[in-house]
Parts: sequence; structure tokens; C-alpha cells
Amino acid sequence: MPRKFEDLRSRRWFADAGMRGFAHRQRMQQSGLRRDDVVGRPIVAIVNTWSELSPCHAHLRERADAVRRGVLLAGGMPLELPALSLGEVIVKPTTMLYRNLLAMEVEELLRSHPVDGVVLLAGCDKTTPGTVMGATSMGIPAIFCPAGPMLNDRYRGRTVGAGTHTLMFWGDYQAGRLGEDEWRDLEARMTRSPGTCNTMGTASTMTSIVEALGLALPGSTSIPAVDSAHPRMAAACGERIVQMIREDLTPQRILTRGAFLNAAAVQMALGGSTNAAVHVIAMARRAGVELSLADLDAVARRVPVIANLFPSGEKLMEDFHYAGGLPALMNVIRDHLSLDELTVTGAPLRAQLDGRAVLDPEVIRPLAAPVSPRPALAVLRGNLAPEGAVIKPSAASPELLRHRGRAIVFDGPQQMAAALADPAFAGDENSVIVLRNAGPVGAPGMPEWGNLPIPRNLLQRGVRDMVRISDARMSGTHYGTCVLHVSPESAVGGPLALVRDGDTIELDVEARRLELVVDAAELARRRAAWRPLVAPYARGYTRLYQQHVTRAQDGCDFDFLDGTAPSPEPAIH
Ligand code: FES
Repeated sequence: MPRKFEDLRSRRWFADAGMRGFAHRQRMQQSGLRRDDVVGRPIVAIVNTWSELSPCHAHLRERADAVRRGVLLAGGMPLELPALSLGEVIVKPTTMLYRNLLAMEVEELLRSHPVDGVVLLAGCDKTTPGTVMGATSMGIPAIFCPAGPMLNDRYRGRTVGAGTHTLMFWGDYQAGRLGEDEWRDLEARMTRSPGTCNTMGTASTMTSIVEALGLALPGSTSIPAVDSAHPRMAAACGERIVQMIREDLTPQRILTRGAFLNAAAVQMALGGSTNAAVHVIAMARRAGVELSLADLDAVARRVPVIANLFPSGEKLMEDFHYAGGLPALMNVIRDHLSLDELTVTGAPLRAQLDGRAVLDPEVIRPLAAPVSPRPALAVLRGNLAPEGAVIKPSAASPELLRHRGRAIVFDGPQQMAAALADPAFAGDENSVIVLRNAGPVGAPGMPEWGNLPIPRNLLQRGVRDMVRISDARMSGTHYGTCVLHVSPESAVGGPLALVRDGDTIELDVEARRLELVVDAAELARRRAAWRPLVAPYARGYTRLYQQHVTRAQDGCDFDFLDGTAPSPEPAIH
């Protein structure tokens, strides 16, 4: 239903005939705008996660200008609102601790200001779900303008990218196969432009998912950050949001269960990050859509990994863009998609996929020739993870996917790091390394510690992978046989808290099982003796987080932000 101009939300501020309306217009004129700039047009917020400590977003200040151009050309009035910037590698202890803060900030920025629609400028890992969650809860028309991936680099004849290759080179450096000079050289080379990590890590997974949901323009998420197509895309976002305001095309009309299942299918076809299992569920719950880990596992069983991208494959996002990007990939898996879902274009998904061909079948494979015979996600259950755990089989070692080994348990990352660096470390390649107190409450913030290090003495013997288990998450750029998101987490008394050194653990990914082979009576004795190791924070945001964060399988949102309970428009007096 088209929105009437008289109904625009911003007119409550600017068209008011009383003293309040006078004051609002007066203050806009104070900043150099004319009366008709704000009274006669839809007002578009440009929510920008740019900062000087968010290098993946270094270009978003300029991109806001391109968005502004599009908004003005379409007859709207753009106004930029800075939002919390979460540079993934820089922010400690983990950006995940602050995803919900960003979501809450975006929702309240939009609610408290006179805006009719929003363009979300984001892309580095948590900034994507954070901004989308906030805009979804606010419910005004919203379009996502992705930061875009950084450029590829080449090193000694190899194409190298951020994250995945850092981990590989670190292993070589630790094992003495890479010298000090090369290690320093790589530091300066591997991230050679603004833009998000160029592997299929969490950033590219989440921006692709948002495009698959229908909240970004078709093909926008793979455009390299420094390509001239990127500012053109940003301008198109600005132009389109003004039309969306007129069409009253809100996230609620786009974010259906079908759209979320499409997003899950894209995650699996891309070999996307396990982090998506948390974020997609959180976003779905904000839209009032029921989506569970079981839904994701079911999609993973039927949609194979066809994008040949690190860490499941061997190419990077720039290659993916040249191969046709997401519309081409979605066209390949179209039989697994609901094609009638509405997108920000105002047309159904089907219209944006028709005719979108794969331009390089080495990068986007046919369904019959997947990159991996194993899925991008498997959801495990058992007495060690009664509420679920996840693993990425496509980035794991096939020979470890069915494994029985003795646990070596650590209660924190420092203790673990010291033990694993010790040349006298006693475990072997069949050991199962366990880290606990790394979940949403325990760490707190469920950091990406889940790619637990391989013990140094085993690295030097050529061991490159082992079964590792934690209640943490793992960077989407990483790989290995890592069981993650074990729930309930150990800090709240989940079974991970009861594991002891030497216990036998059984992993069977095909059967979706994760078991602690200890009899029930002994587990009951251990439970009776268990005391929490993690002291709650005494104050501040982290205290709020520990008190209100939901479990991994529910998206780690705050219980008071989860769902669709209405929040009233602010009174204007
Ligand atoms: Fe920003 Fe990877 S660090 S996307």
C-alpha cells in the first residue's frame, strides 16, 4: 500500500503547526537546511558504522556521500547518523559482546529521530546483523548497503586473503617453515584495501545472507569495496530507499520464513561461516519468524557447497564477483529457493535471478559438481550438547568427522595457550582438546576462540588438525574439525562443565552425535559438586549482557529485544 506523503513519520516533527514544530524546523535551519528541505520530502537516515578503528569500513564515509546523491536525486532528504563501529579484529574482548548494543542503538536512533526510512552502511562481521536487527525491530523501510570485500593479494605466485591465510601462515611460522622477514612482509600485504575480509568468512557470509533475504540490491554484496561500481551501488541504494518509503516497503513485508530459508540455502551453498547459525536465528526472531538449528541442519543436508571460496574452497570474493556473484549462485540453487519472496527492489526474487548466468564455473560450480561432498553446517546433539552444537564439515578433516579420543580440558584461553605451547605437552593427535567458559555468559560475549590452537610440539611433527570442542564461536575465515556453540554453555552448568581430563569423547558428524562417554551416575556426582567458575560482572554493559543474553541456539540476543513486542513511537511535546 503506497504511503501518503501526509503520513510520513518525519512530518510529526516538521509539519507540526505549534511551537514544537517551529523549534524542530528552526534547529534544522540552524544547520544550514531550508524549511522545505525537511518539510516537503521523505527524510532518509544514513546509519553509518564508519570509524578510524574499523579499517574494513574506511571507505564508508565517502560512500555515505554516494548514498546522499541517490537520495537527493530521488527527491528525499538524506541525514547521516553515526552508529557504533565494530572493527572485528580490533574490538576486544569480542565484537559479539556489542552486536546487541549496536542493534539496540540502531533501533533507538531510528525511533528517536525524525526519519522515514534508512540506508544501513555496514559489513564487518557483527555490524551486518546488528544494523539489520535494529532496523527490523524499528520497522521503517530499510535497505542494506554493504561495505564490499577488500581486494585479493598475491604472494609468491599464490592468491592470498585475510583470515584464512593468516591462520595458515601462522601455522607455518610456528613450525619454523616461514622466516621472520616473510612474516613481517605478510603483515603489510595481506589486507591491501578497505573492505571486508575477502574469504567466505563471517562478513561475506552475513552480507550475502542479507542480500538473499531481500534486504540488499541484487548482486551488491560481492562488489569490491574500491571498485567504481561500489559508489554507483551506494547511490542506487539512496535512490531506492526513497521509493521504498513511498511504497511503504518495510522489513516486515520482506522478512518471511521463506526468505530466511532462502538465506539458509545461500549460507550452505557458499560454505558460509558457522557464525551465521547464531545471527540468522537472531534476525529471524526479530522479524517474528520461527527458525531453529534443526531448520538449518535440514537445509544443509540438501544444499551442497558450490562456491569455491576459502575456507571450504580456494578462491576469494573478488573472483566470486567476476563469476556472477550471488544472483548467479542463487540461480544455480533456484530449485531450493522460494522465488516468490519480495525484495527491496519491490519485485519477487525470481525477477532478479532470471538470466543471471555463472561466468566462471570454476568459482561457482554446478550442483552436480560441488566443492565439497560434505555440508557447510551440521548440528550435533548428545549428552555433551543437549541443546545443540555446530560444526562446519566442509572445512574440517574428513578423517576426523568420526572420532573417539581422550579429553584434555582447559578452563580459559590463557591456561590453554600456555599448555599448548609447552614442548612437553603430553597429548597426541588423537586427543580431543576442550575449552570451556567461552560462551555467551562465560567469556562473556562468545568470542571466536573456537579454533583452538594445535599444540606446538604436534605442529612441529606435521599435525595440522585435531578434534577441538568449545562453547565459543569460530572465525568464519578459519577451518578445522572444531565443534562450536556447545549449549548449554559451561558457565551456566552445561555438561561441558563436567568433562575431566582423560574422559572419552565421541564425535560422529554423520549421525549428528556428540557424546561424553561417562556413565550417568558419575555425571550426577560431578554435577552435584559443580560450582560456577565465572564470577558475574559487577557493573556496566557487560553485567546487562550476562543477565539478559539468550543461548546460542536462540541467537544470543537480549531477552528484552528478542521477538516483535511493539515499542511505541515517541511522544512529541
Ligand atoms: Fe572486518 Fe574481517 S575484520 S570483515
